[in-house]
Parts: sequence; structure tokens; C-alpha cells
Amino acid sequence: MCGIIAVTGSGAKVEILTTGLKRLEYRGYDSAGIITVDAAHGFTRYRVANGKTSLHELEQELEAASSNEILAGIGHTRWATHGGPTLFNAHPHLDCTEKIAIVHNGIVENFRELKEQLGHNGHLFSSETDTEVIAHLIEEQRPFCSSLLEAVQKASRLMRGAMSFVVMSLDDPTTLVGFKRMAPMMVASKGDTWFIASDIPAILDRADRFFQVEDENFVVVDPLGAKAFDENGSERDLVELHANWTLDAAERSGYDDFMSKEIFEQAASLRDTVVGRLDASQNLVLDEHLADTDLLARINKVFIVACGTSYHAGMVAKYAIEHWTKMPVELDISSEFRYRDPVVDERTLVVAVSQSGETLDTLAALHEAKNLGAQTLAVCNVVGSSMARLADSVLYTRAGPEVSVASTKTHTAQIGALMVLALHLARIKGQLYPQEVIDLYLELCELPNKIEEVLQVWDSVAALASRLSDKQRFYFIGRHVGYPVALEGALKLKEISYLPAEGYPAGELKHGPIAMLDEQAVVIVVATRTRLYEKIMSNVEEVRARKPFLVILGNQQDEGCITGSEEFIAVPRVHPLFAPIIDVIPLQMFAYHMAKSLGYDPDRPRNLAKTVTVE
Ligand code: G6P
Repeated sequence: MCGIIAVTGSGAKVEILTTGLKRLEYRGYDSAGIITVDAAHGFTRYRVANGKTSLHELEQELEAASSNEILAGIGHTRWATHGGPTLFNAHPHLDCTEKIAIVHNGIVENFRELKEQLGHNGHLFSSETDTEVIAHLIEEQRPFCSSLLEAVQKASRLMRGAMSFVVMSLDDPTTLVGFKRMAPMMVASKGDTWFIASDIPAILDRADRFFQVEDENFVVVDPLGAKAFDENGSERDLVELHANWTLDAAERSGYDDFMSKEIFEQAASLRDTVVGRLDASQNLVLDEHLADTDLLARINKVFIVACGTSYHAGMVAKYAIEHWTKMPVELDISSEFRYRDPVVDERTLVVAVSQSGETLDTLAALHEAKNLGAQTLAVCNVVGSSMARLADSVLYTRAGPEVSVASTKTHTAQIGALMVLALHLARIKGQLYPQEVIDLYLELCELPNKIEEVLQVWDSVAALASRLSDKQRFYFIGRHVGYPVALEGALKLKEISYLPAEGYPAGELKHGPIAMLDEQAVVIVVATRTRLYEKIMSNVEEVRARKPFLVILGNQQDEGCITGSEEFIAVPRVHPLFAPIIDVIPLQMFAYHMAKSLGYDPDRPRNLAKTVTVE
């Protein structure tokens, strides 16, 4: 949550900050603000707190000043945690002397005690945020330190929690100091213009070199370059990142919004993720830092940890890995995994699934898995993200930047990547013949063509959504791999349409949710051809008898299964374990069209942020 951009050097301009913040909108938009420094005026701060329009208003307010050259500046888009989404809580925050400015992402967990202490020392606060405490802590340290860096280092030792922040001081107005602790932060440059940002899209078209910052590291960035230091003050290398993302991929490119664009990008993103993963000797190729095959051969259990939509991809993978490898797979919501006593040892492969590679709960689960001695693998989309750096090996989804808060293309790419992993493990464990692995893999590579077919249902799903736009309750049911699809369909609808929606295993309906079914309810059944097709059609009969509005998502040849005014969404038939990649797409479209027909902006769901870097 919260987006950060900072710039210094000869190319520094106001417009870099406002445009960068617009590109970070998916991180939150409760409020937005920038602070700039120039030779004539010192600090100038602008803040707006009008919810979804904050960034737009900030941009408008600063339009006349947009090409103004500045010595340096920092900007922030906020997803509120400590302190409501008001103007006085909007970042950047200042210390008492108004010489130190800060933007921050994350939480200072012990901010109450620090604030109390600072209050006793005479500091006055103008916001309810934990962020402002950092500014005052640095202010306290500064007179006893030879540099801003040293003051930031001392302050950071006093704070607990995951966070990243950037500080600027009038004493040295062209220098930016950043700190990263389990929250995203990177450095970038073009010539002698230097940037610090929470995410690559903020500076994609501004910079040509990108560098990753390690946890517990500090960066000092000025027009002469960037240096990183660890907590002991020793200088560390800044490792260069090679991101092949393009600006076009991070722009709407003619679509009404990012969500529809990203739904339509799914054939390409799946293709990029799975094709080319078979080498000349017909071995499956995972990404860099691939764990030793001998080590992987020794594992006897897989544990998948993830949140939200990524969790549903992990759930599909459980079916495939267990089926093909005969190894037990446990699956856990990341925030649960880390606070119980998961049975994990050096023969367990813990797979963290995350679009961003930064979700704090999943990152912490990965840390926990490493502490427990497990082998770890990250399946993530953002190159060089914290999880990618922490895990022993990485399997990237090559979906390009995903901007819409509600994940679509990275979900199907995650399932594709996890299928590659499942086949890889099945081969290593000797549970599938090499030819079987190859055949399945080739079938997976054909799936993008099937996605092109599914995308054709866009208009009919739009018509269905407009037909159902007055309905109030939605139940998505499925069995086997259709169950995670049902969960994802319900999650998407909740996220962007705010309609009560539940995903349920169809066989479990009779143990509770069937009591909710009446003529006001809508039931959407994921009924493509798996081994449980007949069983789910029996569940359909149970549902039908209660007279809800029934929608069946099934394979093209099964269209005859509906009666009366029921609706059928036809999708191509594929291998049952690959079916979730196809089946989820009409449900993404359904959520999208419902949101639109109810007048909501699918890219800016209320209360949600794309990357959740707080607990
Ligand atoms: C947030 C987003 C979801 C996403 C989840 C996990 O809740 O709104 O779309 O699925 O985080 O994010 P990750 O980056 O770890 O996949």
C-alpha cells in the first residue's frame, strides 16, 4: 500500500512526481501529496485528500507548475492505515522545524510509545499518522549526527515494523535518503537524474537503469549517484535489475480501464509465462536461481502460501501437484501460516505465490519457511521483488505490469507457472514419464489459443451482467478445480461490485448455503468437464429445485443442459487440470461488467490496494 516516488538531479521536475504518482494509483488513493525544494523557496508542499479523485486533483492543481525545475522532490499516494484519509494526515509530513520532509509506506508498530516520548520532549504533531513520528525522530537525532543518513540510521533502530520511507532535508536539499525494511523500494537513474520509487511503473519511461535495494539497507541518492549502506553503515553494492517492462504495458492503450485491458492480455501473458520452458533436451526450464534438482528430488511435501487471488491460484496447483507427483500439498493463507506451527522441514518445498512479490504476509511466511529450514520457491510477477530475492529459486510469471487492483492476467499466468512447476516436480519425482510431461506441457502451451476463444464471450457476459444488475446475492459453486474458480469468481465480484458473493464447493452446499437459495439469489455453477461433471450436475438439480437464477459455465457441447430462462456461458474444453485458466475468465468479465453496470470504476475499488505491505 502507498506509493512513493522521489527525484533529484538535473532533470528533476514537478511533473515527474505527479505522473509517477498517477502510475502508482493502484497502491492507494485516499490522499496524495508532493513536496518540492527549489533554490528560491525552500520546501513547497501540496496535498489533496479527496479519495478517488485525489491524484487527478493534485495533477490539476500543479498543472501550471508541472514543468518547473526543482532541486529535488518526493511524492506519495496514500492507502490510510494510521489516521483517517484526511488532508492533515496526507503525506509528505514534516518535523517541528519544517526542515525535514518524509513519505512513508508501511507501519511503525511502536509509534504510540515513540510519539508519547517525543511529546514529552516537546515535539508537536500535526497529524495522527505513524509517519510523522519518523520525521520527529530524525529531527531529534540530527544535531548529534554528522549527516542526514546517520540520523535516519539511528531513527530506524528505534522503530519496529515493516516499512520503507524517503526523507529530504533543507540542510542538503539535493540529497534523498531512503530506508527499506520488508516493504518495496528501488533506485533508478537516467544520466544524472536519480529516482527512488516503490515500484517500477512510476519511473518506467524516466529511467534507463534500475537497481534493487536490500532489506535493512539505506540509500543515499543525489545528482552524483546512489550509494547503499547496511545497518552497520558499511557500503553495499546496488544490484542492477533488468526489467523488460515497457511503458505501453503500464498504460491503458485505448481501453476504458486497466482491468478490461488486462483481461484481454491473458492469452499473451500466459504464452509468455509458459512457452519456452522446455529446453533442447526436453527438460522443463524454470527461472534463474533454480534450486538444485537433486535437492528438489528429496522433497516429500509441498506447502503453498499466498493471499487473495494468488491463494486461489495456489489452490488449483494443489490439485495438480498432488495428482501428478503423489506428494502431499498443504495450502495456507500467508497470514495464518506464520502464526501457527506449520510442520515444515528441509524436505518441504514452500512455494510463495504473489503477483507483487511484496505482500507483507506472504513475505513474512517466506521468511518463516526459511527459518524452519524449508526449500523455498517464489512464483511472482515483479522481477527483483523482495520475495524473488529471498527465495532459493524463482519462477516468474511473465505477465508484464498489472495495474488494476483486481488481479486477472497474473492469476491465469500464476496457474500456468504453477502447472509448469507441477510437471517439473512430477518428472523429478519419476511420477510421470518424460513423454507424458512433454505432452501435457505442449497442451498447456496451446491454452493461449483457447483463451482467445474465451475472450469472445465478452459481449454475452456483458448482456448477462446487465440482466442481473438488480440481483443482490450471488453464489458461485464448483467442484475439484472448479472450486477455486468459484472462490475467485466470488472474490472478483466482491472486490469491484461490492455485492455479497460466496464461493462454495458444490458438494458442501447441502450443509448450509442451500438454505440461502430462493428466487432472489443467483447461482453461478462452474460445470466444465472434470471427473466430477455428473456429480456437479446433480448439485445443479438440487439448486434448480430452489428456483434461484441459474447460470451454468460449461463446455461448448453441453449447452443443452440449461432449461427455461437459465443462462449458459460456453467455454472450450481443455485438460481438466488446466480448465481453471479458461473458466475463470468469464467470471472476471462478469465481475467487471457488473461493476460497470452498477456505475463503479473497476480500477479503483473502495478500501482495497493492489499491494498490501502491512499486516
Ligand atoms: C491484494 C490485492 C489482490 C491480491 C492480493 C495478493 O489484496 O488487492 O488483488 O490478490 O493482494 O497480492 P499478491 O501481490 O501477493 O499476489
